[in-house]
Amino acid sequence: MEPKSPRGAARSELPLFAEDTSADVVGASFGIETSPRLREILTSLVVHLHDFAKDVRLTVEEWDAGIEFLTATGRKCTPVRQEFILLSDVLGLSMLVETVNNRGVRESTEQTVLGPFHVVESPTRQLGDNIDAVGRGRPCLVTGSVRDIDGRAVAGASVDVWQADADGFYDVQKPEEIPAQNLRGLFSTDDHGRFWFRTIVPRYYPIPEDGPVGDLLRATGRHPNRPAHIHFIVSATGFASVTTHIFDRTDPYLQSDAVFGVKESLVRDFELIDDSERAVEVDLPNPFYEVRFDCVLRPHGKDDVQALP
Ligand code: BEZ
Ligand code: FE
Repeated sequence: MEPKSPRGAARSELPLFAEDTSADVVGASFGIETSPRLREILTSLVVHLHDFAKDVRLTVEEWDAGIEFLTATGRKCTPVRQEFILLSDVLGLSMLVETVNNRGVRESTEQTVLGPFHVVESPTRQLGDNIDAVGRGRPCLVTGSVRDIDGRAVAGASVDVWQADADGFYDVQKPEEIPAQNLRGLFSTDDHGRFWFRTIVPRYYPIPEDGPVGDLLRATGRHPNRPAHIHFIVSATGFASVTTHIFDRTDPYLQSDAVFGVKESLVRDFELIDDSERAVEVDLPNPFYEVRFDCVLRPHGKDDVQALP
């Protein structure tokens, strides 16, 4: 009886592995079980990885260092710390994936990175509530609306908000000092699609830099800061949800966000309002800051997947 050949052993028609055939040989090793999409992704990944290694003539020592870096990146991950996402962020890959997946979507509000600090559920709040439980920082009124691409108000839309404090920290980063759920809120738009709440003006802050990603930033002379921003996830039944931020136009790091998340359409003026009557009306000390964010949602399914050229 013929000896049974091991799975996938018969590949005699293929050239052997060599510098000029490497990507083809590896690509041909993916069996018929491979789904078409997985084959497409892996084949392209191998082509680009092999091109990269040839392009820079990667040495064995350099690739060892690369493996060590990736291992350290994995070791830094915990249930509340995702160093690989951070790596993807500082290499611009997170923003690229976001941008590629929203090609040509012009009518709705632009998106940006989610970031690692949406780790706890935001507490449900009433319109007008103050999400700042500490009382330090520059008081700020945020007003806005949620509309569809034809300008119609979206009532009952959920507006999930979170931000850093006046020192640039999220509650989860300093649980002993900052009250839980500080500067977080889940609001629902009124019958006219409006929302408003009180908070403080956020400050720029460094992304976590005590791990391999921080080492990478230092090795490449990059600062770790993100320009001041307020995060939003806006969602409503029948619409594609929007994960985004608004940025403070005066921030010194607006042009050099460590994770490349800034888009011009998301930059806002935090305007100083000196009007004691209005301050009483909105229940903030005078003077206070005001910023507006009008969010446009597109129907679910419209432009969800952009055809690749
Ligand atoms: C953030 O904005 O919360 C964030 C985004 C990416 C990396 C680190 C922080
Ligand atoms: Fe943030």
